[in-house]
Amino acid sequence: MTLRPSISFAKFAVPKKGSVFVFAADGGGLGEAAKACDPAGALARAFPVADFSGKFASSAEVLAPEGTSVDRLVAVGAGKVSALDDNAWLKLGGAVAASLRKATEVAVILDLPELQPDGRQAASLAAGILLRSYAFDKYKTRKDKEDGQSDAKDARKAEAAKPAKITIHCADPAAAKKAFAGEEAVVDGVLLARDLVNEPANALGPIEFAERVKALEQLGVEVEILTEKEMKKLGMGSLLGVAQGSPRGARLAVMRWNGGKAKDAPLAFVGKGVTFDTGGNSMKPASGMEDMKGDMGGAAAVTGLIHALATRKAKANVVGVVGLVENAVDGHAQRPGDIVTSMSGQTIEVLNTDAEGRLVLADALWYTNDRFKPKFMINLATLTGAIMVALGQHYAGLFSNNDELAGRLSGAGQASQERLWRMPLGPEYDKLIDSKNADMKNIGGRYGGAIIAAQFLQRFVKDTPWAHLDIAGTAMAAPSSEINQSWGSGFGVRLLDRLVRDHYEG
Ligand code: BES
Ligand code: MN
Ligand code: ZN
Repeated sequence: MTLRPSISFAKFAVPKKGSVFVFAADGGGLGEAAKACDPAGALARAFPVADFSGKFASSAEVLAPEGTSVDRLVAVGAGKVSALDDNAWLKLGGAVAASLRKATEVAVILDLPELQPDGRQAASLAAGILLRSYAFDKYKTRKDKEDGQSDAKDARKAEAAKPAKITIHCADPAAAKKAFAGEEAVVDGVLLARDLVNEPANALGPIEFAERVKALEQLGVEVEILTEKEMKKLGMGSLLGVAQGSPRGARLAVMRWNGGKAKDAPLAFVGKGVTFDTGGNSMKPASGMEDMKGDMGGAAAVTGLIHALATRKAKANVVGVVGLVENAVDGHAQRPGDIVTSMSGQTIEVLNTDAEGRLVLADALWYTNDRFKPKFMINLATLTGAIMVALGQHYAGLFSNNDELAGRLSGAGQASQERLWRMPLGPEYDKLIDSKNADMKNIGGRYGGAIIAAQFLQRFVKDTPWAHLDIAGTAMAAPSSEINQSWGSGFGVRLLDRLVRDHYEG
């Protein structure tokens, strides 16, 4: 098991043992506190042969450096010091974590020529270390060896290993500690979302997911879990139609964090929680279907966000609603051509049972709007393959009926580097889902699939400021990055925490 490093902050001192990390600016220059750790200049002497020049997130190291009693000195390149923003510090934390290897005792010396990072920068660095250190390896009982073989004994040994103890030496450890408390809350939300996405569908169905949501009560979150029976009473025929082909039931989980003023309308976040998507009777091809265990990435992000906001006691009223179903196919599964009635009263002709996410969200959005009269609704969903065709894996699609909300979201996307690209909506697209037999159909024509899905959702939000984030390309099968090496990214948690923090607190 990968063990989570423990992190603390301290004043500058020259470490006597363990691994010591320092930062080098472009050109390889070290700060004063870093130089003090390398009295014989062993590290600087190694730079040319290691082809190290302080390039951002590169590294070079010396083992058992002369003139010291430490095991290892590592330099991490910080690049151009004036360009270091919060995200760069997060990535530098990732670079530190990437070079930890088997170190259990670690000191990070946080200074650079002409820069002594403040508490916030130290906290970002620490958060980056935690994000990068995450691995989903709970089902690995054997540890891979270099020859590709596995060794169960090795794994047990690793199990007994101690987590890395990391001390970050910085100018103002008290400020860093304080800033890190908030950052760590967000990290824990991201890691929860990653865990939920990575978990296989045999272990995490609608009921198990709902149990994970219920656990947020420990943080002071009010949680309600609606069962099929209650949803039936509410008239959620659209969501329940998707669930009816699976024996594993359906749930609607409602989370409420009341950190704001009693009179303030809540911010609402709604997630698609399809714990596995076979496509139903319009079944998906076998190849790659395993990825559909991640089709609850929207619900995971909402759950992770509420976890983060409650942990850091955000000063805002927030509602999270996740629609939890398995899109499976037994003899009870809905058929193409079936017509269902949604909670809104609008009827839907289900022409493709694989366009199920929108059917789940139709009722979840209507319910959220109807019950909570929120200030805005933002839904997240791994909704369409088409958004991946359009944007690849580095931007999520943003659809909105409100320019202010869209602008704030785009800004939060830039700030968190969980980036969004705005896509169009309009009546020309909306009419593509008019149906001959019902109020609407759940698919359109050949083109603009991500937009058509968004138009469908918009029919369930009335005039409430609303945004839909299509995270099919960004929530799962994530390209490995400086701060994430796992399949699930936790996309959306840092983005929306940022949105709430920058615009809706206090
Ligand atoms: N969950 C999928 C979308 C998806 C695809 C997410 C790949 C992540 C990776 C969604 O339910 C789906 O099947 N969408 C269909 C819609 C189509 C039938 C109109 C799609 O995108 O092909
Ligand atoms: Mn589908
Ligand atoms: Zn789906």
